[in-house]
Order: sequence, then C-alpha cells, then structure tokens
Amino acid sequence: MRIHHTTASLRTALAGAGRIAFVPTMGNLHAGHIGLMRQARAHGDSVVASIFVNRLQFGPTEDFDKYPRTFQEDCAKLEAAGVDHLFAPDEKEMYPTPQTYHVEPNPAHVDMLDGAARPGHFRGVATVVLKLLNITGADVALFGKKDYQQLMVIRNMAREFALPVEIVAGETTRADDGLALSSRNGYLSAAERAEAPRLHRQLTRIREALRAGERDFAALETQAVAELAAHGWQPDYISIRRRADLLPPGTDEAPLVVLAAARLGATRLIDNLEI
Ligand code: PAJ
Repeated sequence: MRIHHTTASLRTALAGAGRIAFVPTMGNLHAGHIGLMRQARAHGDSVVASIFVNRLQFGPTEDFDKYPRTFQEDCAKLEAAGVDHLFAPDEKEMYPTPQTYHVEPNPAHVDMLDGAARPGHFRGVATVVLKLLNITGADVALFGKKDYQQLMVIRNMAREFALPVEIVAGETTRADDGLALSSRNGYLSAAERAEAPRLHRQLTRIREALRAGERDFAALETQAVAELAAHGWQPDYISIRRRADLLPPGTDEAPLVVLAAARLGATRLIDNLEI
C-alpha cells in the first residue's frame, strides 16, 4: 500500500490506475470500515482509502481534538485488507486556507434525525466529501448504511451536482449479537454492552411488524421507545422513514427504513434497518 500525504502525490500515482474505488474515513478503523474496503475491491481496479479527521463536521461542543488517532494500526489494517493507496493529508494540505466555500445540503434533509442535534454537521461532511471526490477522481465511492442520513445526503449531493461518481452503499457490519460495530461501543461498560443489542432487536421487531402488514407507524415507534426507556435507555428517536430522503412516509409508501438513536449511559448509539 502506498501512503500519500499530498494531493499531488496521490494524483500522480492514480494517473492511469484504471477505475478507482474510494472509501473515505476518519481513521480509528474497525471491522465495519474494513468491510467497506473489501467491498470496494469488486468495484474498481485500484482501491483508495482516506484518513482525515475533518474539523468542518465537528460542532463547537464536539471534541475534535479528542477524536482517536491510531494511524499506525489503521495502516496495518488497510494493508491487510488489500488497499492500494491511502490518502492521509494533514489539515494544512486539505485546508491550506480556511474553507470559505461550502456545500449546503437541503435543510429538509439535515434538520432532522441525527442532523437535528448537530447543526452544520452534514454541511461539513458534504463539503469534505466533495473535495475528496475531486482529489481522488473516484469512479465509485462507498459509504456505510450505518450512517444512513450521511449516505442519503451524499447520494443527493452527487445526483444534484451531476458528480461523475457512483455512490455505493455498504451493509452494516455487526457483532454476533446484532450490535452495529462502532468505535463508540468501546465506551460501554460490560453491563451496557450486554444491554446494547436491544436497539437492533427493536429495529428488527419493527421490520417484522411492517413486513407483516402493520401500518400504524407512530404506534410502532412509540412502543419501541417505551421498550428501550423501560430498560434504562434515553431514546432520541425511532423513526420509520422513506429511504430516498428520510422524510415521513405516507401509509402506502415504499421503500422504507427505520432509524434509531438512543443513549445508553453516556454513550449515544445509532442504528437502522431497511425494510
Ligand atoms: P467514519 O466515521 O470514519 O466512517 C467511515 C465510513 O465507515 C462511513 O461510510 C461509515 O458509514 C462506515 N461505517 C462505520 N461503521 C460501520 C459499520 N459498522 N458497518 C459498515 N460501515 C460502517 O463517516 C465518516 O467517517 C465521515 O463523515 C466521512 C464520510 C469520512 C467524511 O469526513
């Protein structure tokens, strides 16, 4: 695997590298990220990963400086996954002057669900992703369904700006008990870790009910929230939405996805399931 710290170095290496499949990350990699790398192999001649902790997507109360940086371990995992090129710019390379032009997502797509509590977050994500797509010249870019609203925003950005890239959604990698892999899982106590799969179980229950023909979305959401609260969770939302824009669906609308965010102790977990 070749490591590039500058745009110039990456672009030189990728000239003539064939079809490029790209997986952007912020590092601190786990098996979920690595699953995307392996999937990328099927979509291109060259697999390119990036590691860049993007200050633009952190709010003033979110700790950019404390975001875990594990570069050596990450490199070993990417190498083992068969990644060809790693783009790892520092902030000076990525933002040599302050970024004053931004991608402004449709407010209706970002002022809800995870975006509601994080004003400006998806604007920072969209801006850095557009920049990374331009730097890498990716033909295909992969994003995890784990961050479903992020995936939706990127898809809509690519479509509305006619970006010459195919956005591919990667399935969520889970622990054996169903818990979606996340670096945040490491913050859970042993008791919380044992409780954590309940979130996925509630989503599965909603999926089964919808498949069986249940159409009272509000009742399903309320019941799941109550179930979690009864087991010590503080749910933020459990919402049945339409996939394309994550807005509330009409009763006969499809395809759907159910999204959830809930706090367990001090840790906020998110998950979702497509119906
Ligand atoms: P990061 O949180 O590092 O995630 C990188 C990619 O890994 C995202 O597409 C995310 O959805 C995916 N991912 C995380 N956990 C996963 C899991 N359990 N299974 C499958 N995929 C998983 O998301 C970001 O970085 C940033 O916002 C970024 C897009 C890089 C822009 O800065």
